[in-house]
Amino acid sequence: MNMDYSFILKDIKPTTDEEKEVKRVSGMLLDFINDKCAVEDIDAEAVLVGSVAKKTYLRGKSDIDIFISFPLNIDKSVLKEKGLYLAHQCCDAFNVRPYHQFASHPYVTTEIDNFKIDFVPCYRIDDGSQLKSAVDRTILHTRYVQSNLEDNQKDEVILLKRFMDMTGTYGSEFKVGGFAGYLCELLIIKYGSFENTLKEACTWQYGHRIDLMEYGTAKQFKDPLICIDPTDKNRNVGAALRLDKYSQFIQSARNYLNSDKKEEYFYPIKKDITKNTILNELEFHESNYIAIKFDIPEIPLDTLHPQLKKTTDSIEKILNKNDFQVFQSSYWTDEKNTAIVLLELAVFRLNNIKVHKGPKIFLDDACKNFIGKFGLENCYVLDDYLVLNVEREFVTPKSFICHLLTEEYISLIKVGKNLIKYILETYEFCDLNDLADDEDVLIFLDDFLNPNQHIKR
Ligand code: UTP
Ligand code: MN
Repeated sequence: MNMDYSFILKDIKPTTDEEKEVKRVSGMLLDFINDKCAVEDIDAEAVLVGSVAKKTYLRGKSDIDIFISFPLNIDKSVLKEKGLYLAHQCCDAFNVRPYHQFASHPYVTTEIDNFKIDFVPCYRIDDGSQLKSAVDRTILHTRYVQSNLEDNQKDEVILLKRFMDMTGTYGSEFKVGGFAGYLCELLIIKYGSFENTLKEACTWQYGHRIDLMEYGTAKQFKDPLICIDPTDKNRNVGAALRLDKYSQFIQSARNYLNSDKKEEYFYPIKKDITKNTILNELEFHESNYIAIKFDIPEIPLDTLHPQLKKTTDSIEKILNKNDFQVFQSSYWTDEKNTAIVLLELAVFRLNNIKVHKGPKIFLDDACKNFIGKFGLENCYVLDDYLVLNVEREFVTPKSFICHLLTEEYISLIKVGKNLIKYILETYEFCDLNDLADDEDVLIFLDDFLNPNQHIKR
């Protein structure tokens, strides 16, 4: 039986008012920059790109992406200087404050009439192989989608994006590691419709290949999903998609197709999260929770999140290696001031002794040295090793973590390089009881307790 999506689309597609506003604001900005280029004889052109240009944006999420394209023969420093100049002139003209962003490429963001605006300088290319900076393909992407996505398929893209958004797999930023908007568009071009995309996804394997232009270049990639960019045969559009998000999408597609509450997948899950229920659930595990809170520096989010993840993973790993068995770990950040690394351990306290392993018994000289060092009375044979029992230096995970988070020993864990100083100087252990007073942390704790709960309804 075919599902009627018109009611859902009525909720998630931009309103006519929003559409009109987007057109007005983006038109006004493009005109300003292009006029400025003409008057000041700058060889550049402002173009509207992204989901607004492709009419595949979700209601209330119309970030306006304006790319300012320069000829290939100019120097990168000139591109940067003139691009930023034009963006600044534009912001001045409309009385808004420009914010510089330097993730890997310089660009300017601002807000005009409640729309988030990006001004991104780039090179004007006709083919992916000419690319000189990472963002140069974007204009080609926009053109490709504009000429290959049928009008009636725009709704299908919107349904797919919304479904992914509500199931936690939408967005190629590192924080999510999910599907990029452009990837959604390519999936609809490939499979025709939202439903058909989900049906196909149910049987995807690791390394599934999509090659719309039949370039035959998929072999060079080892990612979970390989979708060759129609505008660049050496680019995988799925490069930022992490294996966990790929897997969650596949399972969410199965859940959806089997569900008799399909429309609920297009809305946030209904759930009352209260401090009390969360604390009770946490308590039920009888786990040892350790929350390490620290200040964070002002760095791009796509730098901050990988560093927090790396730090969390690395602390988990070294705890496990030292017999402090970690059940699960995660991190939370307000992306402004604070981050929390949360560890859930299966142990509170270890015994006082541990085995110190010596050489294999067959190494005569080494065994003699070992005994010479530790005394025959202390050594014994375990399997085919000479060993002895020694007192543990740390019997609680907290004391071990305190030891690690010092100038001298922090190099034992892989902490993001921008975070080291902040962790060392500001870290403190927090009580979950206190943390749970923050509404956002409460949602984080709920997700911690119920991993990928959003993929089912
Ligand atoms: P956006 O992240 O704004 O995507 O990047 P979008 O297509 O506009 O989708 P929305 O905003 O989530 O609805 C703008 C453009 O940058 C390129 C794509 O061409 C995209 O359309 N891009 C962005 C990528 O190629 N890969 C990425 O991971 C992100
Ligand atoms: Mn966008």
